[in-house]
Amino acid sequence: MKFVRYIMKNAALASVPKHIDHFSKFSPSPLSMKQFLDFGSINACEKTSFTFLRQELPVRLSNIMKEINLLPNKLLTTPSVQTVQSWYIQSLMEILEFLDKNPDDKVLGEFVEALVTIRNRHNDVVPTMAQGIIEYKEAFPQDQVTNQNIQYFLDRLYMSRISIRMLINQHTLVFDGTLNPVHPNTIGSIDPHCEVGDVVRDAFHSAKTLCDQYYLRSPDLVLQEMCRTKKNLPISIVYVPSHLYHMLFELFKNAMRATIETHDHSSTLPPVEVMVALGAEDLSIKMSDKGGGVPFRRIDNLFSYMFSTAPAPRRGERARPPLAGFGYGLPISRLYAQYFQGDLQLYSMEGHGTDAVIYLKALSTDSVERLPVYNKTALKNYKVSLEVDDWCVPSREPLDLSVHKGPK
Ligand SMILES: Nc1ncnc2c1ncn2[C@@H]1O[C@H](COP(=O)(O)OP(=O)(O)OP(=O)(O)O)[C@@H](O)[C@H]1O
Ligand SMILES: [Mg+2]
Repeated sequence: MKFVRYIMKNAALASVPKHIDHFSKFSPSPLSMKQFLDFGSINACEKTSFTFLRQELPVRLSNIMKEINLLPNKLLTTPSVQTVQSWYIQSLMEILEFLDKNPDDKVLGEFVEALVTIRNRHNDVVPTMAQGIIEYKEAFPQDQVTNQNIQYFLDRLYMSRISIRMLINQHTLVFDGTLNPVHPNTIGSIDPHCEVGDVVRDAFHSAKTLCDQYYLRSPDLVLQEMCRTKKNLPISIVYVPSHLYHMLFELFKNAMRATIETHDHSSTLPPVEVMVALGAEDLSIKMSDKGGGVPFRRIDNLFSYMFSTAPAPRRGERARPPLAGFGYGLPISRLYAQYFQGDLQLYSMEGHGTDAVIYLKALSTDSVERLPVYNKTALKNYKVSLEVDDWCVPSREPLDLSVHKGPK
């Protein structure tokens, strides 16, 4: 029996590349916030959702699995990246088992269980990939092209992951039959009336608790809301509160750390100011700190996975403050913002402080998933080679005008 199972498992494994080829030929289907709400409303049909997901999940998984294979070989073969790749293969195989099943109650129940298993299996994709990057950085010298490739790939891998988790969460939360006791009006993980100010305050208090524990003090919050039309009403949008919380929590941690470290010798701390503004098209949230800012030259690097991956402290080494981890706070938060067509940008004035702005779509009809697709353009992006710069590179040597340079 054990032997038969072994043979079957190997046969299934051998057919994986064929399935990846097949499903990666389809483009993922981005859903709008409205479609998510309809899928999860009172007349939600579990069978429709099942039929959609058993096709869409393999498509999203296969599209990104094609790209994993395009990573530089030295990175692809690190144990951590191999582990992540094996999770994707395993999850794909588990969903494919439902392809020809009739959606009766038993199968629908098994499907929910399979989705929960898959979600848990992928919990640690981000730290495991980060570990792979560390292994790679320790073994090989970095070059600009590989850095670009890895940045491009990880943004797409993590965006794909956010989207897959969103689909899984919606299905499992909507169809497990119980109401969310804390937020009874949410539809899956979406709040049709997500009050932005409340999420700002929640995120602030969590960051403040961490900050107080480590530094024994923390800056205050000054929150202001601006709305063109609905004066004095709290601003709300259709959104996933946990995504918004994630972004704000990361920004608060950064703002608090910068404020405290810059005002080390002062008995008072300037507050972190947050402005929420709702217009016809955008909902923008600006967080301003007086934490000394970052040089303009470094801003792009703050979003880089390669530059920021800090190894975990070795034994005996001083631990990094809890307000600073892998250095993925900003790049992952930007992906959450971009997931529903928004963005996250930093404007800093070195010597003064930093403004971080989250842009979200004000209208749920504009909030549509932003998903990577594996195609010729994506392929081309992995084939970039190092070209000579078409702008002069300033010499670090003092200019000696007496020496005349020859032709190029
Ligand atoms: N408001 C800010 N003021 C000054 N520097 C900042 C600010 N926000 C970010 N930075 C700089 O950008 C770096 C990267 O920020 P990011 O949040 O991505 O990573 P981290 O804070 O180092 O670690 P993690 O967020 O993963 O715990 C920070 O280490 C810090 O040097
Ligand atoms: Mg951070």
